[in-house]
Amino acid sequence: MSSLFLQARRAARMNPSIIREILKVTEKPGILSMAGGLPSADTFPVEAIKAACDKVLTDTPREALQYASSEGFAPLRQWVAERVKALGIDAAPEQVLITSGSQQGLDLVGKILCDTGAPVAVETPTYLGALQAFTPYEPLFTSLASDHEGVRPESFARLAHDAPGTRFAYLLPNYQNPTGRVMSEARRAEVVEAARAAGVPIVEDNPYGDLWFDAPPPPSLSSRWPEGSLYLGSFSKVLTPGFRLGYIVAPRELFPKLLQAKQAADLHTPGFNQRVVHEVIRDGFLDRHVPSIRARYKANRDAMAEALKAHLPAGCEWQIPEGGMFFWIRLPEGFDAMALLDTAVEAGIAYVPGAAFFAQQPDKRSMRLSFVTLTPDLIREGVAVLGRVLREQLERVEEHAP
Ligand SMILES: Cc1ncc(COP(=O)(O)O)c(C=O)c1O
Repeated sequence: MSSLFLQARRAARMNPSIIREILKVTEKPGILSMAGGLPSADTFPVEAIKAACDKVLTDTPREALQYASSEGFAPLRQWVAERVKALGIDAAPEQVLITSGSQQGLDLVGKILCDTGAPVAVETPTYLGALQAFTPYEPLFTSLASDHEGVRPESFARLAHDAPGTRFAYLLPNYQNPTGRVMSEARRAEVVEAARAAGVPIVEDNPYGDLWFDAPPPPSLSSRWPEGSLYLGSFSKVLTPGFRLGYIVAPRELFPKLLQAKQAADLHTPGFNQRVVHEVIRDGFLDRHVPSIRARYKANRDAMAEALKAHLPAGCEWQIPEGGMFFWIRLPEGFDAMALLDTAVEAGIAYVPGAAFFAQQPDKRSMRLSFVTLTPDLIREGVAVLGRVLREQLERVEEHAP
């Protein structure tokens, strides 16, 4: 039956997030889910937030509950400009746009930089949510060759031929979602130089950079090429995602367009949330709080690393992440992580099949495991079940081998 509503071409391009669809199945009671990308709720500083809400509502109730400026709460913009200095970014508060999560930042970037058919370069694999955010603006995705450190510098030289007019390269140098990989300092230098030589600006997304385990990551990509880079940050993984607070640090020439896009999208990010978060973090709270998240996640990472070594069959490959929230597993020849998911869920565990994170040519043999939502004991139990599921599948694959 034809509909009264003729939908836009961009609506036809939108898809439900495969992860959210999978989570509906996998977050059932009794399933040990390593699928979700959620930070551990045990790390949320509830008492500090409660006190800050009370203070904001006592000191500035009417200002906090009124419409606010599209740019963001001035003291929070100031805080961000100070904070990113540690990443080598020298930006004025006027270059900081507070967004409703960095996910909105990605949407605004798509809105002002993408055009139908114009190329956008992404890592292989990349953050699924960015593909979703950019897709309605109808870019042509080009996958940049990547390895265990992220994007390979020589892939930029090919863009001039394969994807002329590439609008930007979307890069995740720190503990990338989904692979957990981090870019070395040498690679950063090469990548930025290659992007600059190719005339391709960088959109740097860094929600996980503070979640390092042994040593902080090298300075940001943006610090090496400030006029050619947009930097996206988030409070979701260091405080709580519930406030939906992120930010873009943009070159001055781009800021007015981003601001117009932001105004059109939602006028402003909730002023109450911004004031509460600023109240919590203004006195160095994150410097005391984030180390406790790191310690917890590191213990979880260690538990998963040990369990994977003990239980996964030969032929599976992975890197031990030095921060962030994810392991990325490559299964042996002949495996299809999506096809295996039902069996895994029946056995009581869940993961995210990796194929969804590829803009082109999905790798069916990959899967993402989060190590931050289960306790170390449950991680060990879950990985043991995963190992059993994989070994049984391996026997089936070998039986059918010619
Ligand atoms: C790489 C990456 N970018 C952006 C986001 C969105 O984060 P936010 O909660 O700030 O919107 C996520 C969320 O998981 C992410 O993994």
